[in-house]
Amino acid sequence: MLKFHIMRFNPADPASVPHLQTYELEQTMGMTLFIALNEIREQLDPSLAFDFVCRAGICGSCGMVVNGRPGLACRTLTQDLPAEISLAPLPAFELIADLSVNTGKWMRGMSERLEPWVHSLGQEADLSRLA
Ligand code: FES
Repeated sequence: MLKFHIMRFNPADPASVPHLQTYELEQTMGMTLFIALNEIREQLDPSLAFDFVCRAGICGSCGMVVNGRPGLACRTLTQDLPAEISLAPLPAFELIADLSVNTGKWMRGMSERLEPWVHSLGQEADLSRLA
């Protein structure tokens, strides 16, 4: 049996107060945190918010703090963790709710600071040379 202590807070809800909520779930073979969180949401608490996109360790959207260390929920096997697991949202990102953070806003801000695009140095690009 696994015990999950999950940070719950919805900044958009004035009645919401940050707190840890505990859920118990039976561990299954090959269970990842992604699978566990989906089971918690499907079986125990449909209000739990968290993010996933690729489920393959590529996009980073499932990043969260797992027992005090940042990790990817879709790549973390529960069998590699102790029976008591604490989950919290990544710091430094705007919190949307519970474990869900606004990575898009962070990426946009980083892109604007780094300007990772081709700079023309004041000259117009001669597109006719590309034909
Ligand atoms: Fe994309 Fe986990 S869902 S890295």
